[in-house]
Amino acid sequence: MLKFFVSTSLVLLASTVTGLAAPTPPGLEFLYSLNCTLGEIFTTGVGPYGEVRVIPITGGYFEGPKMKGDVLNLGADWNYLDNHGTTHPDTRYSLRTDDGENIYIKTAGSAQSDGLTHLRGIYETGSEKYFWLNYVTAVGILRSGAASNVLIDMWYLTSPPNGTVAVRE
Ligand SMILES: *[C@@H]1O[C@H](CO)[C@@H](O)[C@H](O)[C@H]1NC(C)=O
Ligand SMILES: *[C@@H]1O[C@H](CO)[C@@H](O)[C@H](O)[C@H]1NC(C)=O
Repeated sequence: MLKFFVSTSLVLLASTVTGLAAPTPPGLEFLYSLNCTLGEIFTTGVGPYGEVRVIPITGGYFEGPKMKGDVLNLGADWNYLDNHGTTHPDTRYSLRTDDGENIYIKTAGSAQSDGLTHLRGIYETGSEKYFWLNYVTAVGILRSGAASNVLIDMWYLTSPPNGTVAVRE
């Protein structure tokens, strides 16, 4: 019974995929480049999910077409080192724009085999001017700098024009 159900579902799935033209991808809008300074790393050791290396975020600046300002000395990366030797940032830190608004940012992601680290970012702010940041889906690339500072470029997704819709024939 279960086997019948599974194979029927697979047939339906296959026919759906066959009839589907490649969808139009969403766009990416540049948010800013950020250069932040890092404090002295310490480790909390190897816990159940890997080794957590705590990397303080101690300052810096960011600049983009819609926002620029400072990285506050208030945040850290609780960076996971997994059992494949891959690092996974897990950060919480704070931005202050040049017009005095405070923005909280969380990022997470994974190092890639090319040496860059891919990030997803979430922003929170009560600022009216920057409230739109609460609704973006942000992605970033961490270009590793020195041990004392890192460079991060951030973008957010923009909707594709009306494109293809999956039609089951
Ligand atoms: C980033 O900031 C550091 C100082 O904190 C500076 O030495 C370095 O040149 C900056 N990097 C870039 C690419 O601007
Ligand atoms: C997509 O198509 C619908 C229906 O034709 C229209 O109402 C809507 O404005 C379109 N959206 C975009 C982003 O083009």
